[in-house]
Amino acid sequence: MVSANLDLSLKGSDYLPSPSVSSPNQQISPITAQINQQDHLEIGGCDVVELVQRFGSPLYILDEETVRLASSQYRESLLRYYPGTSQVIYASKAWCSLAICSLVASEGLGFDVVSGGELYTTLEALERMGLSKQAAQLIYFHGNNKSPAELLYAIENKCTIIVDNWWELETLVKLAEQPIQIMLRLTPGIECHTHEYIRTGSIDSKFGFDPNQLETLFDYVQRQPNLKCVGLHAHIGSQIFERQPHQDLAGVLVGWLAQAKEQGLEVETLNLGGGLGIRYTESDDPPSIVEWVKALSAAVVTACEQLGTSLPRLMVEPGRSLIGTACVTAYTVGSSKEIPKVRTYIAVDGGMSDNPRPITYQSLYRVVLANQMSEEAQFKVTIAGKHCESGDILIKDALLPKTKPGDILVVLATGAYNSSMSSNYNRLPRPAAVLVYQGEANLIMQRETYLDLVRQDILPERLINFT
Ligand SMILES: Cc1ncc(COP(=O)(O)O)c(C=O)c1O
Repeated sequence: MVSANLDLSLKGSDYLPSPSVSSPNQQISPITAQINQQDHLEIGGCDVVELVQRFGSPLYILDEETVRLASSQYRESLLRYYPGTSQVIYASKAWCSLAICSLVASEGLGFDVVSGGELYTTLEALERMGLSKQAAQLIYFHGNNKSPAELLYAIENKCTIIVDNWWELETLVKLAEQPIQIMLRLTPGIECHTHEYIRTGSIDSKFGFDPNQLETLFDYVQRQPNLKCVGLHAHIGSQIFERQPHQDLAGVLVGWLAQAKEQGLEVETLNLGGGLGIRYTESDDPPSIVEWVKALSAAVVTACEQLGTSLPRLMVEPGRSLIGTACVTAYTVGSSKEIPKVRTYIAVDGGMSDNPRPITYQSLYRVVLANQMSEEAQFKVTIAGKHCESGDILIKDALLPKTKPGDILVVLATGAYNSSMSSNYNRLPRPAAVLVYQGEANLIMQRETYLDLVRQDILPERLINFT
C-alpha cells in the first residue's frame, strides 16, 4: 500500500469543495459539503453525524446535487462544443440502483448496462418513472460474455447491443427474428495506465474485436439482414487524467467509421466510452468535465475534416466522474491499537466489504472526522476495516484529530465502484445508502439484515437429521 504524503497542518475543512472549481470531478468532497454550527460535516443540507444516528453505519451518503451537476455538465458541454448530435449514457457499473438510475434518467442521460441484472434494474427504474417507452433509445448493453438469455432479454426490450466478439455476433444472428440494433466494440490499441498511456497497437484485451479483422467483420455484419449496425464503440480505461489518449482514440475510431461506411454499413454513431478521472487526493489533477468533452469533440471534428467524412452522433459513457465524488462513506470508530514507534490502527465498522478498492487496487482516499471538522489533523493513523484480513486497510497514514470510540469517520469520494463492488465477506450485511438533497435524506438502499444473509442459503433435510 502506498503511503500518503500529507501536510501536517491539515484540517477536515481543507477537503471541502473549493468555490472556484465548478467541475465535481475536480473536488474531493461533494459540492454541497460544508461545516455546520456544531462543527459537523454537512452534506446536501444534512448533518452527517445525525444521519448516522438515524440510519446507522457504515452509511453511504449520496449527494443529489453533485450527480445532477456532473450530469448536466456532460450534457451541456456536448451541446456547446460538439456541432453534431450527441448522447451521454451513464456507465451504471459504477453504482446501479433504482434511485440512481432514476436520478440519472431525470437528467436526460441514457445507460450502459453490462449484465441482465443491471438491465433489469434500469428497466425497472424507467418503468416506475413512466419512461418504459424510451428504454429502447436509452439503454446500451455491453459485456464480453453476454449469455443467450441476456441477449434475448435485451432484444425483447429493443436495447442497442454493443457486440463484443464473434461468438456473440453469431449468437445474435441466430436469435434475431427481426432487425435488431447493434454497435461494434473494437480494441483500439491505446493502453492507459491511469497517469500514462501508450499507443502500442496492442490487441491484448479481453474486450472488443481485433482491429486487424475489421474488413472481415464489417463485411460479415453488412451481410446480416437482421443486424442493423449503427455505430462503433471503444473504451480505453478508467481514472484517466490526460486528454491525449481520448483524442487519439477519436482519431482512430473516425478512421474506422469511414472504413465501415465504405464497406456499406450505415454507421452514424461513435461511442468513445468513459474514463475521465476524479480527484481522490490533492495530487490527483483530472481535467474538468467541460475540458474533457471539449477536447474530445474537437478531436472528432478534426478527424472528420481530415478524412472528409460527415460528423457522427457522438456518445460518451462516464461512470466514475458522474458519481464518484457525489458519495462519502460514514463509519463509526471502534477499537484502536497503538504500536509504539510503528503505527496506530483505528478500526471502523466496515472495510473491504463496502470498499474493496484499497485492497484490490491500492487506491488512496482522504478521510475526515465528521464530528470535529475544524480540529487540526495532528495524528497519523492507519484506518483499518473489521474484516479478518490483514490487508483490510482503508487508508494507510491518514491524518486525523485525536479520535475516540464512537467518532464518525468519513471517507470521501466513495461513489464509484464501492457499493457496486461490495460483498458480504465475513457475513457483514451491506450498508444502507441515503440520498441527500436540501436537508432531506431518503433511504435508497436498505441495510442488509442477518436474515438477508441466510435468505439464499439452503439447509438440506439430510443435514438437519444427521446424528
Ligand atoms: C465499456 C465501459 N464504458 C464505460 C466505463 C466507465 O468508465 P469510468 O467509470 O472510468 O468513466 C467502463 C468502466 O470500466 C467501461 O468498461
